[in-house]
Amino acid sequence: MNSTINPQSAIRNQFWEGNGVQASTELETKEKQIDKKIEPQELGTHPVIHLSHIHKVYHMGDIEVHALRGITLTVNKGEFVAIMGASGSGKSTTMNIIGCLDRPTRGHYILDGRDVSELSKDERADIRNSKIGFVFQGFNLLPRTSALENVELPMLYSDVSTTERHKRAMDALIAVGLVGREHSHPNQLSGGQQQRVAIARALVNQPALILADEPTGNLDSRTSVEVMEIFQKLNREQGITLILITHEHDIAEYASRVVIFKDGKIKSDYRVTERRDASEELKLLPTITDDDDDDEDD
Ligand SMILES: Nc1ncnc2c1ncn2[C@@H]1O[C@H](COP(=O)(O)OP(=O)(O)OP(=O)(O)O)[C@@H](O)[C@H]1O
Ligand SMILES: [Mg+2]
Repeated sequence: MNSTINPQSAIRNQFWEGNGVQASTELETKEKQIDKKIEPQELGTHPVIHLSHIHKVYHMGDIEVHALRGITLTVNKGEFVAIMGASGSGKSTTMNIIGCLDRPTRGHYILDGRDVSELSKDERADIRNSKIGFVFQGFNLLPRTSALENVELPMLYSDVSTTERHKRAMDALIAVGLVGREHSHPNQLSGGQQQRVAIARALVNQPALILADEPTGNLDSRTSVEVMEIFQKLNREQGITLILITHEHDIAEYASRVVIFKDGKIKSDYRVTERRDASEELKLLPTITDDDDDDEDD
């Protein structure tokens, strides 16, 4: 056998693909990278992300889908960015590139000072695991696996001891307010609790960056505010850079900056002047209890 497969990378890639994330078509690698190198003066003070003239073309048989048509975007450390735009405008495609799940067809992507646009699948997997946490609309937890084990999952790929793994996973569950539910399986948890487990899993490797693709899409309004409270806390208290895709203006107002996509381009990019504070709003919202549910059934 000539082929060498790194088993850890194989598991990791399986994990991502199993979570509904499409692997990149390798066809586009044939296209030449013709963009100029980015000059340092183009970058902001502490850019975590710098996308420069990013294009993405998907090939489906003979058909080419030009999903991104020249995206240039810089996100500095500690920013909380909401990405909005119509369906099909290229939000998830951009997120997949930022998250090193996919590669641009053309253009450069500098993540934390390193050009990652042309890295191999395995190199991208290493970067994902060490620098980036992901949260998805559908939670993407493993069924028949406890909350604690779900949170421990990203650490299975690193050299962390079992004791340390448990400790870090518990700390992450504490950070999202899920103490006491660590042994519950996803089907024993509410949607909001499952999303908290997913956020704890995203946190556990202490990423510099958390990417969330419609994290409140499956949640009711109070639970959405609770999830936004966690994101705002992580952003404020731990300085984690956050990028969140949403269709809801209300949700975007918890971010500090909004970037709007249209037809594979950035249509507008602005600061949120009157930012919402999830923690303050929750104090005013009535708590939903089991009794309330019973009343509704009567
Ligand atoms: N793997 C793929 N193969 C072919 N075309 C794709 C692929 N992924 C996305 N596209 C196309 O690229 C364009 C941008 O898709 P993308 O998923 O980024 O949109 P989006 O803004 O996230 O939309 P939504 O709000 O519906 O999630 C669309 O035309 C879509 O059909
Ligand atoms: Mg999408």
